[in-house]
Amino acid sequence: MDYRTKIAIITLLYMRRRRRHRFWVHPIRQYRRSHSEYYRLVQELRFDDVLFQRYFRLNKTEFDKLLTILAPRITMQNTSFRLAIPPAERLAICLRYLATGDSFTTISYSYRVGVCTVASIVRGVSQAIWECLLDDYMPVPSKQDWSNIAAGFLEQWNFPNCLGSIDGKHVVIQAPPNSGSLFHNYKGTFSPVLLAVVDAKYLFRIIDVGGYGRNSDGGTLANSAFGEALRNGNLDLPDDSVLPGSQHCTPLPHVFVGDEAFPLQRNLLRPFPGCNLSREKRIYNYRLSRARLTVECAFGILTSQWRMNRRLLTVNPAKAEVCVKATCILHNFLRMSRRGTRNHLCVSSWQREGPAALQEAPRLGSNNAARVAIRIRDAFSAYFCTEGAVPWQHLVL
Ligand SMILES: *[C@@H]1O[C@H](CO)[C@@H](O)[C@H](O)[C@H]1NC(C)=O
Ligand SMILES: *[C@@H]1O[C@H](CO)[C@@H](O)[C@H](O)[C@H]1NC(C)=O
Ligand SMILES: *[C@@H]1O[C@H](CO)[C@@H](O)[C@H](O)[C@H]1NC(C)=O
Repeated sequence: MDYRTKIAIITLLYMRRRRRHRFWVHPIRQYRRSHSEYYRLVQELRFDDVLFQRYFRLNKTEFDKLLTILAPRITMQNTSFRLAIPPAERLAICLRYLATGDSFTTISYSYRVGVCTVASIVRGVSQAIWECLLDDYMPVPSKQDWSNIAAGFLEQWNFPNCLGSIDGKHVVIQAPPNSGSLFHNYKGTFSPVLLAVVDAKYLFRIIDVGGYGRNSDGGTLANSAFGEALRNGNLDLPDDSVLPGSQHCTPLPHVFVGDEAFPLQRNLLRPFPGCNLSREKRIYNYRLSRARLTVECAFGILTSQWRMNRRLLTVNPAKAEVCVKATCILHNFLRMSRRGTRNHLCVSSWQREGPAALQEAPRLGSNNAARVAIRIRDAFSAYFCTEGAVPWQHLVL
């Protein structure tokens, strides 16, 4: 008897017995182990490195390495009435969701498991990915780490004393029921925000997801744990130091660089607002936006590899948050494993900043902290026109 006939018969029995047998499995699922995408397609993909990597974003070696790390966390026990889905299959389902952003329903058909099972696997495995990789692939930076990041920015982006570029990205999700307007951001969609600090090599060093969408990035920063640590000086930042080549000047603090949406602070630089700027200010803005490219590139790479970040998510915000965190740490996992192979797929986008962004500019107070911040920005600005000048900045502006 071929399996289609079997399915037809079993389905018939299934309809009859459904009431009596609570744990009867639908025949479509019964054939999971012989016919599902995991047991057919994925096993075939193992013979083709290119397609395997396109399908999961990880190559075989990386998939197996990740599985070894996660297995203790995501292995479920068999029960007397049902075999547990093995860890490799769970990981496949989760990665496929993160890589494509397909709906749980779509994935439940191709992997022949229930929609709720897909949802719980995605959530559980994403959480495991985040927790198991955190210590190795996104540890809280120490003072030495911050210094190394600053060295990287100086070398690759000609920006001294820079601890990372910071930006917020809205993760678009459909409005959860009864959420009121909490998630309603200014672009008219519902979304949590991914706030990220990225180093010179496009690695996420700190991320913060949540800060529900209505806030501007500046507001998100203020409400985030990172923003609070920055304000309170709990980040273990390196001491102030003189910029290279300007030993006669006073030491300057180490800074994060952000766009117009962020407030100017002692450790946070933003561009000069407005259009009619002096040459010195334009050069500063150019050099700043150059360093800021790293965060835009990191977001670009993240969303093109893990398309869940690009598609309208229909999951609830708490789940979206776990998934976004998982993709960020997978991004680091891949970049750190593949050190040496480069994929600079970035285009310069610093020109595109328009007046729209400028409207977000927070107003500077006139207190002492604000004056200090302004003085620091002016010092960087002067530096980029003197000792810190690079030859091509004159060609660009
Ligand atoms: C569950 O049962 C299957 C098939 O007998 C076995 O291969 C698998 O190792 C078992 N899983 C656990 C966690 O015991
Ligand atoms: C731009 O600034 C210069 C001097 O800072 C001023 O003379 C000029 O009128 C300004 N132009 C506009 C359009 O505001
Ligand atoms: C997978 O990528 C790793 C680097 O992350 C590389 O060392 C390995 O050779 C690759 N394996 C395959 C099968 O392509």
